[in-house]
Amino acid sequence: MKPTFVLAVLAATMSSAAAAALGFNYGNINKFNAVKVRKEYVDEFNTAKALVGGGNRFTSARLYTGVQGGTTNGPNEAIQAAIDTNTSLLLGLWCSAGEDVFANELLALQNAIGKWGESFARLVVGISVGSEDLYRISPTGIENHSYAGAGPDVIVRYIRRVRAIIQGTVLDKKPVGHVDTWTAWVNGTNQPVIDACDWIGMDAYPYFQSKVSNAIEYNNGLFQDALGQTRAAVGGKPVWITETGFPATGKTSGAAVPSIENAARYWNEVGCPMFGRENVWWYTLQDNSVGDDPSFGVIGSTGLTTTPRFDISCKQDSP
Ligand SMILES: *[C@@H]1O[C@H](CO)[C@@H](O)[C@H](O)[C@H]1NC(C)=O
Ligand SMILES: *[C@@H]1O[C@H](CO)[C@@H](O)[C@H](O)[C@H]1NC(C)=O
Ligand SMILES: *[C@@H]1O[C@H](CO)[C@@H](O)[C@H](O)[C@H]1NC(C)=O
Repeated sequence: MKPTFVLAVLAATMSSAAAAALGFNYGNINKFNAVKVRKEYVDEFNTAKALVGGGNRFTSARLYTGVQGGTTNGPNEAIQAAIDTNTSLLLGLWCSAGEDVFANELLALQNAIGKWGESFARLVVGISVGSEDLYRISPTGIENHSYAGAGPDVIVRYIRRVRAIIQGTVLDKKPVGHVDTWTAWVNGTNQPVIDACDWIGMDAYPYFQSKVSNAIEYNNGLFQDALGQTRAAVGGKPVWITETGFPATGKTSGAAVPSIENAARYWNEVGCPMFGRENVWWYTLQDNSVGDDPSFGVIGSTGLTTTPRFDISCKQDSP
C-alpha cells in the first residue's frame, strides 16, 4: 500500500466516525439592516465556538443563500469566513424569488467552487435547495406571511439543476436536500421533493404551534412528534434538524410563554440529547435585530458575547 492510500483510508474511517454537525443558522443581514461581510461572519463563527459552556462544539453554520448581499452572483462572504475559522457549512440556495435569482444562486455556487476549490469543499456538509418554500405556499404559511414560496415542482427542478452544476466539481457527491417545516414533509403532495432529496431538513417550532397545547412542558413531546412524523413520511432518508429553538423573550404564542427559564428548558430537553448525534443547526446564535419579538437568540440581540442567556452546558443537573 502506498502511504497516500493508507492516509486516504484513515481519513475516510475518521470522517465516518466524526461527530454530527452542530451549529447555528446565519442570515446575511446584520442588525443595522446592512449586508453582513466577512469580518462579521468570522466574529460570529468564533463566538459560537467560544460560547461559555459550549465545549467548542458549535462549529457549523447553515446559510440561507449563497449570494453575497449587494452583489448579483458574488459568493456569500460567509464561505470565506468559514474557511478562515474552520467552520463547516450547510449551504443554502434561495428558491422563492424566481428564475433569475435562482440562476444567480447557481452562478454564485460555481464562483465559490472556482474561487476556493477544495478548501471550501472540505467544509461542506450538504447543500440545501430552498428554505421553507413549501411552507410558505401552504394555508398556514399564506395566513402568516406575505412573501413568496415555491411549489414542489419548482424545488424538484432546482434540485436537478444543482446536481448538474456540482457534477464533476469538488462538490460532486455532496448530499443535496431541501429544508422545510415538518408540516410540509408530512404533506403527501410534496412527495416528489422527498424523492429528489438525499437528506431532509426539518424545521420545527412547538412555540409556534399555537392551536395545540404548546405550554413549555409539552414542547419536547411536540418536537418528538414532529420528528417522528417526518421520519415516517420520508422513508428512511436522513432527517437533519435545520431549525428549532424557543424564545427567551417576546409574545406568548398559544400557551408557550417566552422566558429565559423556558428557553433553557427547551435547550436541555430538545437540544442536548441530539447534539453530537444528529446534524443540528439551532435557531439561533443572535437575533437578526435589536428588539426582535420573539427573541430566539441564545446570546440575545445586544451584541456578540460568549456568555449565553442560560447554561448551555447540557449538564441537566446544573442550576
Ligand atoms: C477543523 O475542524 C474539524 C472538525 O471540527 C477538525 O476535525 C479539524 O481538526 C479542524 N482543522 C483544523 C485545521 O483546525
Ligand atoms: C400541501 O402541499 C401542497 C403543495 O406544496 C400545498 O399546495 C398545499 O396547500 C399543502 N396542504 C396543506 C394542508 O398544507
Ligand atoms: C400562523 O398562523 C396560525 C393560525 O393563525 C397561528 O396559530 C400561528 O401562531 C402563526 N404562526 C406564526 C409564525 O405567526
